[in-house]
Amino acid sequence: MLYYFQFKYNIVKIKLLSHSKKVFLILYRINQYSSLLDNNHKSEIFQNIKDKIIDLDEFVFLTGAGISQESGIPTFRGPEGLWRKYDPMILASISGFNKNPKLVWEFYKYRQELICNCTPNHGHRAIAEFQKIKNSSVLTQNIDGLHEKAGTKNIVELHGNILRMQCTECEFQETIEQKIDQPLPPVCKLCKNILRPSVILFGEPLNPDRWTEAERLSSDCDVMFIVGTSLNVGPVNQLPLYAKRNGAILIEVNPEPTAVFNEIMDYSIKGSATEILPQLLQLQKNKY
Ligand code: APR
Repeated sequence: MLYYFQFKYNIVKIKLLSHSKKVFLILYRINQYSSLLDNNHKSEIFQNIKDKIIDLDEFVFLTGAGISQESGIPTFRGPEGLWRKYDPMILASISGFNKNPKLVWEFYKYRQELICNCTPNHGHRAIAEFQKIKNSSVLTQNIDGLHEKAGTKNIVELHGNILRMQCTECEFQETIEQKIDQPLPPVCKLCKNILRPSVILFGEPLNPDRWTEAERLSSDCDVMFIVGTSLNVGPVNQLPLYAKRNGAILIEVNPEPTAVFNEIMDYSIKGSATEILPQLLQLQKNKY
């Protein structure tokens, strides 16, 4: 009797398997077809973009954590985002720093040591190459210095740079070459007060000179590429509106198009920075 059920079970299993094979093949074909559609759609977008921007002159890249994600630096709000694990109000705010500077320094030291070992990716390098063909500036929210490492010029580091530190009292500043080997929080060589990372902490205003420069560049540009940012944080998330008001073309590059600002984008290209930016660079190169 048992053999009978075993035999029946095997028949059913073979039928299920062959059935699931057919289902698998159908799903595979659908997937193939949709990615073909996707690629056709993407190449249509690229051709459209090329026609629109090829003769324009002033370009701005507004970048966020997403452009450095493929260099190994975690984003803030993605599934693996830093703010999923750590509370930014305790570890990345001015009130947190005033309350417990040692704890905030431990967090930034951890991030500095991670960033020190990261290198620019194809996305950073494509922007540096783009600058050799077209007038372009980079407005970055990133504090990792990877745009500069990639050879990019005309960078406005809106949120500062984690590889620099400054005195909380006097004008002293210092670049961190490698690891900080002083006890935390480090103290100023000149006035012995504590140092802080040269970054904008939550609850602080942006540097007025850098903000004015960012407003000017955004208001004067013909095209703004918005790359790897959720546009969650003001006032930087207002810069695409400055560009739009000036009649600029807005082109977003992000695997997950931003929710709030999506409707003002002229183009929203779904993809990673390392995949899309070299293709956008090629559009410009193909003109020459
Ligand atoms: N290529 C392009 N975009 C990517 C990639 C990638 N490989 N990976 C993730 N992204 C996108 C995500 O879809 C998301 O929209 O990058 C964006 C990252 O968003 P956030 O983590 O919110 O980072 P960002 O927008 O830079 O945050 C702004 O918030 O916490 C503060 O000071 C911090 O500068 C930061 C600011």
